[in-house]
Amino acid sequence: MRLILYLGKGGVGKTTTAAATAVRAAELGYRTLVVSTDVAHSLADALDTPLGSLPTQLNDHLWGQEVNVLDEVRDHWGELRTYFSTLLRRKGVEEIAAEELAIIPGMEEVVSLLHIRRQAKTGAFDVVIVDAAPTGETVRLLTMPETFTWYASRVMDWEPTTLKAARPLVKQLIPATDIFATLDRLNKGVIALRETLIDPAISSYRLVVNPERIVIKEAQRAATYLSLFGYPIDGVVLNRVLPVEQAEGAFMQELARIQQGYRKLAYDLFSPLPIWEGPHYARDLAGLKDLSEVGQRLFGEVDPVKVQFRGKTQEIVREGQEYVMRLPLPHVEIGKVAMTKRGDELFIEIGNFRRDLILPMSLAERPATRAVFRSGVLEIRFGTPEALPLTAGKE
Ligand SMILES: Nc1ncnc2c1ncn2[C@@H]1O[C@H](COP(=O)(O)OP(=O)(O)O)[C@@H](O)[C@H]1O
Ligand SMILES: [Mg+2]
Repeated sequence: MRLILYLGKGGVGKTTTAAATAVRAAELGYRTLVVSTDVAHSLADALDTPLGSLPTQLNDHLWGQEVNVLDEVRDHWGELRTYFSTLLRRKGVEEIAAEELAIIPGMEEVVSLLHIRRQAKTGAFDVVIVDAAPTGETVRLLTMPETFTWYASRVMDWEPTTLKAARPLVKQLIPATDIFATLDRLNKGVIALRETLIDPAISSYRLVVNPERIVIKEAQRAATYLSLFGYPIDGVVLNRVLPVEQAEGAFMQELARIQQGYRKLAYDLFSPLPIWEGPHYARDLAGLKDLSEVGQRLFGEVDPVKVQFRGKTQEIVREGQEYVMRLPLPHVEIGKVAMTKRGDELFIEIGNFRRDLILPMSLAERPATRAVFRSGVLEIRFGTPEALPLTAGKE
């Protein structure tokens, strides 16, 4: 079983790419499910066919589905919310506020991922392709399993005191359910989910970008966080590339020229990940026939279901008081390393190679003390955060 998740800023062509990959996978004979978890569904539009919250068969090997996250939460985990809002009301929180507060952060996202995992585990599909919510949200979503299990374990630890107080009332409201069994079930589901999501033999994350600065920056930020949490990225889709040779007139030629600059930037930033390029089509794309063309242009001879890149694109480890970040840069020649840090960005120069790195917050607050490049790996050390003047010497 394979799980392929497409991430990208809204509008870059994520839904189109996910659907095209699915159509291509089905052509290659894989039993394929393409599923959207974005609340702003557009998968049905891309496939040009109505979809429901259960898989709809579209051809011999292809199924499509739009998960209704809100329904999922209500149907399967509604009792948890009832429980939390009951607790909060007992603590004097007003009715409607209690309802809102009882929404566990990340719950919807976790539930939609749990749903996909269940679907994947039925064995009905060889590959499940996910058209996820825009990058920022999805990255937050992917960091949820950790956060969620943390919340859940806190709540469970509170049981002796908190629950005892609330139990009679809760029992009255939801007599047939044992809330802790539910929470435990959810927690176990989330732990198993995380194992699936970081297993590089099962899950692959692909970033969809356009040849535009902001889009590439956002994808790079996503790549940083995915790596940090151990989610295996296996490629980048560079969509909407203007064909230089077909660009006519000064305006189009200039646009195509600017794009080529960003195209190079994408290769510099995402190497050694493979990049699949798709042209900017001069028409609306919809329906299986169009998607088949998009999929074939994108992947050519490559089987998009197979894992396309193995290994880490970056690694951060703790060594004593320091953090060490390691980046494999296989195509870079040996040279002197120069670096400048500004906020969460680190600018690296090795000979005539340049790379801007986006640092996770935990590294951004530390000074970058030393960088060495050897055997194709760049190693950067980060010292202890400088003490803030306001708190220094207190306590
Ligand atoms: N390579 C392309 N060339 C032309 N139009 C495209 C291309 N990729 C996507 N589109 C169109 O752009 C719009 C947005 O694409 P979509 O896949 O829905 O983006 P996202 O899911 O990232 O928001 C759709 O109308 C789609 O048909
Ligand atoms: Mg979309």
